[in-house]
Amino acid sequence: MTYQDALNKAKEKIDSLDAELILGFIQNQTREKIFSNLNSNLTSKKIKSFNALVEKRRKGFPLAYITGKKEFWKSEFNVDSSVLIPRPETELIVEEVLKEGLNKKIILELGTGSGNISISIKKENPEVRVYATDISINALLIAKKNARLNDVDNIIFLNHDWKKEWLFPDLDIIISNPPYVDKNSLNKDEDGVWFEPEEALFSERFGLQDISIILEKSIFFLKEEGKLFLEHAPSQAEKIASISEKIGYINLEQKKDLNKDIRVSILTK
Ligand SMILES: C[S@@+](CC[C@H](N)C(=O)[O-])C[C@H]1O[C@@H](n2cnc3c(N)ncnc32)[C@H](O)[C@@H]1O
Repeated sequence: MTYQDALNKAKEKIDSLDAELILGFIQNQTREKIFSNLNSNLTSKKIKSFNALVEKRRKGFPLAYITGKKEFWKSEFNVDSSVLIPRPETELIVEEVLKEGLNKKIILELGTGSGNISISIKKENPEVRVYATDISINALLIAKKNARLNDVDNIIFLNHDWKKEWLFPDLDIIISNPPYVDKNSLNKDEDGVWFEPEEALFSERFGLQDISIILEKSIFFLKEEGKLFLEHAPSQAEKIASISEKIGYINLEQKKDLNKDIRVSILTK
């Protein structure tokens, strides 16, 4: 069976781009290389592996978990099923933090997952001091690996649960893309999410429980005029505005993603 035959068959079941990327992964070749070798033959072992992965993808298993890689901001990150797959909308938080003139600022990230946010920021600002935390040890192991792969040194990775005690130095910036999805609001057929770690996605109280904890505790660890950058669902924007006013943040900016939905709130102490 040639590459072309395998792709034709796979495209009856899954998206063509996904099929091409899976074949590239199996053959350890770029998509361009696959296209220039369409008449090459696949061994029977490779055909079997390819078909098995196509079937997995057909059942909704995310492409990034199959290839083990995901592009985010300006870099590539390793992912496996212990971390959330970095989303394009999360690049907004990186973009906003990078506008801050970071120099030697002290940053805490709550819920670093694959490390995509902290690593992207530190890569462009090697002088900042970054504490990147997560409740999941497996996520932290992936994040550390990603820091090495991206030649980023000196991020301090910590195992920490924001529902428990906090012990951090005074901070200039806190960043978080916490779990904020209301489990009951999700469509059962939603592509891929059911394969991602539950603790990375879902939060109680209509998706607001973790956000509320982070809003309440962060204010005690931020320096005067320090800022909290928080990703959330567009539908949570108003609620976040009212909670943060009650807590005592003095300023709130809300930023829209590429779909023109409010996705990031920036709160000043
Ligand atoms: C939505 S993911 C964000 C991952 C990554 N920062 C990103 O933006 O792609 C949320 C992360 O928060 C972590 N998390 C969930 N509950 C937590 C808690 N109570 N304390 C610390 N981290 C937690 C999860 O393990 C997960 O890695």
